[in-house]
Amino acid sequence: MDILIVGSGGREHAIAMSAAKSPLVDKIYCAPGNGGIGQVAECVPIGAMEFDRLVDFAKEKEIGLTIIGMDDPLVGGVADAFEAAGLRVFGPRKNAAILEGSKAFSKDLMKKYNIPTAAYENFTDAEAALKYLETAKLPIVLKADGLALGKGVLICNTLEEARAGVRSIMLDKQFGTAGNCMVIEEFMTGREVSVLSFVDGRTIKTMTSAQDHKRAMDGDQGLNTGGMGTFSPSPFYTPEVDEFCQKHIYQATVDAMAAEGREFKGIIFFGLMLTEQGPRVLEYNARFGDPEAQVVLPRMKNDMIEVMEACIDGKLDAIDLQFEDNAAVCVVLASQGYPVSYEKGFPIRGLERFEEAEGYYCFHAGTKLAEDGSIVTNGGRVLGVTAKGADLKEARANAYGATEWVEFDNKYMRHDIGKAIDET
Ligand code: AMP
Ligand code: GLY
Repeated sequence: MDILIVGSGGREHAIAMSAAKSPLVDKIYCAPGNGGIGQVAECVPIGAMEFDRLVDFAKEKEIGLTIIGMDDPLVGGVADAFEAAGLRVFGPRKNAAILEGSKAFSKDLMKKYNIPTAAYENFTDAEAALKYLETAKLPIVLKADGLALGKGVLICNTLEEARAGVRSIMLDKQFGTAGNCMVIEEFMTGREVSVLSFVDGRTIKTMTSAQDHKRAMDGDQGLNTGGMGTFSPSPFYTPEVDEFCQKHIYQATVDAMAAEGREFKGIIFFGLMLTEQGPRVLEYNARFGDPEAQVVLPRMKNDMIEVMEACIDGKLDAIDLQFEDNAAVCVVLASQGYPVSYEKGFPIRGLERFEEAEGYYCFHAGTKLAEDGSIVTNGGRVLGVTAKGADLKEARANAYGATEWVEFDNKYMRHDIGKAIDET
């Protein structure tokens, strides 16, 4: 069958490369895609939020499966639009994607079903939020309710900062309508782990763990970004932690959504913090992580398309999800100045070296095919250079080695992706 992938980042490139390995797949289309995705898929110039055009395209090309990579279209109801047209789609409906789309919803769900998370209060009124701060313990965490490109979280160390944060989220609308409602929650400390899972409405199968590096600069300094690099598996995600999460978090979340009449089919991404009191949910996402997908999917042994089909058909229990007994590290090559301001349009050299290198991947995020046929930079996060290795240290050495293969003006990266593994 022919398939369509919706999105344009490194995550969608990783999804496309996994799909290309499936014997079930003939042709891959990607909307809108990017310069690198264009090497495995035919990119079509339709935006991820243009639901009618996406549906029309899928009908016209008789697409057998559409995979939604990004959060915005899912939260906006793209899966519903495809289903209404009788098309097969991988990703939760709008009423389930709210798990990511509203932090207030997800916190209330966790409270109602006793799923471990930070203590919190929701607010729709700035005055009430400001009053609450007077007696709150510091540091304190402020979260805009809706989607804010991963930037809607403020960690405030002083009461003044927290007051300013409430004002900027709720009154100045720093994150737009995402700030019509906000969550104020307890600050937690511990290691962060990302666990992605396949869900078919009832059954959940978790993938291998990963860890992201969200800050822009070495030593976790600088602004929050979409993610500057990942490694998988996380050595801190021990069998004991897994056992706790399987018992108290994963199935409990799927069951809670079903009990609420919001059957979840697709990917649930659990952002966890391993606190001294045990694992706690930091956040849910309703799609693969970016760049988590770049280290998790290359290690998956199953045919990804077969697993996605099983999710849609409610037959995930029959799938034995397996991952390679190795490790992978992804280092993001960004444009100098990301995430604030940066220049685009610089030619990228050396990409061909990845074509023949077994266990190495160069996932494209912000790239574009120029008119002369060359690939040029076209965004803040440009490439995700990923390598596998027998263990995390080898994978990291391989990935950093491969970052030298590609060159472009204003190339920027963190040099400490996976440094935490040295402590284990
Ligand atoms: P989120 O988008 O909810 O994952 O938040 C973004 C980042 O903010 C997380 O990856 C954490 O590093 C941090 N964060 C969020 N909530 C908390 C919390 N309750 N305590 C400490 N850090 C947090
Ligand atoms: N890397 C974090 C995310 O995809 O939300």
